[in-house]
Amino acid sequence: MIRNRLLFADDDSEGSAMVATKPAPLTSVWERSDGELIEAILQFYPTIEPHPILDSTYNAGRMWKGSMRQVVSMDIDPQHKPMILGDNRVMKGVPSNKFGVVVYDPPHVGPQGRDKSVKRFDVDFGATMECGKEHGWTLSYLYPPFLRQAKRVLKPQGLLLAKITDMVNSHKSRWAHCDFMRMAEEAGFTVCDLIVKIRKGPMMSTKWKNSHHARKRHCFWIICRNGNSCEQDGYERS
Ligand SMILES: C[S@@+](CC[C@H](N)C(=O)[O-])C[C@H]1O[C@@H](n2cnc3c(N)ncnc32)[C@H](O)[C@@H]1O
Repeated sequence: MIRNRLLFADDDSEGSAMVATKPAPLTSVWERSDGELIEAILQFYPTIEPHPILDSTYNAGRMWKGSMRQVVSMDIDPQHKPMILGDNRVMKGVPSNKFGVVVYDPPHVGPQGRDKSVKRFDVDFGATMECGKEHGWTLSYLYPPFLRQAKRVLKPQGLLLAKITDMVNSHKSRWAHCDFMRMAEEAGFTVCDLIVKIRKGPMMSTKWKNSHHARKRHCFWIICRNGNSCEQDGYERS
């Protein structure tokens, strides 16, 4: 495995420029950009060659800006012009046992506003999947079919990297990261780590008049391995 090689040349919008040095040991709280965190993760966890990488929710590919990684893009929305246009819960035509890493950054809120029209915000942030009463007011129903496909297309010991944000919906906290971790284990992954990624400020909307919950200034990156090994050196659970 190649370690400590600079494969990320630039920064995305959130942090400062990256310097070509040996990466610091990974800590469980991350205050820089998603792109830098993915690169740090890719230097830390893999036990097999991580390429090719499938980004299964590519959108504009903001996480890969400046990256030199080989990324296969997938999105359900044709306007993002992904290499694979399709639903990551089906992954039609995608070969099994193909990828070293699958990245997953699903929508964490549903369409904004009371009317059903899709807004600019919704498209930019991928907030286009319904999460109303019929779905228990969460987007966690998206995870099990995706997890089955991620397991299928990943090589044994490949990594699934998921960016998951909890949300408040219909006046109640919805703990998406707990759902995802439980569902990933049920799908046959080993959940190896949970990294808290901190934003500079909370996401805000002028529509939110009163606050009843702490404004979220963080999300979680969940590192899962397609196998029973929790650690890089191949420690096998009984
Ligand atoms: C939060 S955005 C991803 C942002 C992206 N990581 C970036 O850095 O630009 C979520 C994306 O997932 C896509 N998406 C939602 N449901 C999907 C599905 N079932 N299959 C594939 N893509 C999906 C949306 O179209 C949207 O582009």
